[in-house]
Amino acid sequence: MTTDSFYSSKIEHLKKDKNAIVLAHYYQEDAIQDVADFVGDSLELAKKAAQTKADIIVFAGVYFMAETAKILNPTKKVLLPDLLAGCSLADGCPPDAFADFKAKYPNHKVVTYINTSAEIKAMSDYVCTSSNAEKLIRSIPINQPLIFAPDQNLGTYLNKITGRNMVLWKGSCIVHEAFSLEKLIDLCLEYPEAKIVAHPESEDPILRIAHCIGSTSQMRNFIINSPFKTFIVATEVGILHQLSKEVPNKKLIPAPSRKDNSCACSECAFMKINTLEKVYHCLLDETPEVIVNSSLSKKALIPIEKMMQLS
Ligand code: 13P
Ligand code: SF4
Repeated sequence: MTTDSFYSSKIEHLKKDKNAIVLAHYYQEDAIQDVADFVGDSLELAKKAAQTKADIIVFAGVYFMAETAKILNPTKKVLLPDLLAGCSLADGCPPDAFADFKAKYPNHKVVTYINTSAEIKAMSDYVCTSSNAEKLIRSIPINQPLIFAPDQNLGTYLNKITGRNMVLWKGSCIVHEAFSLEKLIDLCLEYPEAKIVAHPESEDPILRIAHCIGSTSQMRNFIINSPFKTFIVATEVGILHQLSKEVPNKKLIPAPSRKDNSCACSECAFMKINTLEKVYHCLLDETPEVIVNSSLSKKALIPIEKMMQLS
């Protein structure tokens, strides 16, 4: 028995004993995805968390995702295998600085990406994910000035496709901002038949040459349903785990990073801080638990619920 199968079978037993579910983002390590009851993108995971009848949700993802799950379903016990699983977007948008930023634009409404803390959500009029951001922004009257935070790459892309001029907070994702255009072009020359799929957290030069731009699940659906056979994938490499099982006849090439080739650059270090062993221990000991102050939770829920209704 391998170490992974040892922990997986313990986790399966604990899930039944405790009426618990494991929700995992596509960027989690393979063994965690394999033990999860559901693997999805940010929006799908939020929906699952809101609907579950389980008593315990083990959220194998990052802090803002587990916090959103707790806000959506506050009577459940929400566990995060490692509380240090942060996010460069959420961590790069501190509430005090954002309050000052927001105060400079009193006529603007605030749209925030789900990759933020509960405090930022509580200061927002709308919350979105990468899969519904365009739809949400198009639902707001064009003459309503908007702030978009915290991802400037996603914000730039949304301004471009919706014709808006949203004021952008200058945050970015350390994984998606690191793709190298130069190396990507070299790869396209090597695989001229390849289609490029990119997450909108990527920088504009990458998005300009992409054949499909979308959330993690939208990228997956494009690859699964496309008649083409070769894809260069500009997002966190964890997405390739399920895909390589679902479309074993297709060639999936991770987009190259600007960083040194020797590191696993398109892995999110925050996502990968969770391990199967930590999932096991957190379910066994029912800790660490994600707690959200109830008045903050109620305020943050208002813009999240608008998003859930739209989706
Ligand atoms: P989605 O899951 O919405 O595609 O977001 C990607 C991401 O970076 C999550 O942290
Ligand atoms: Fe945050 Fe980027 Fe990691 Fe997603 S991939 S959790 S946006 S740092």
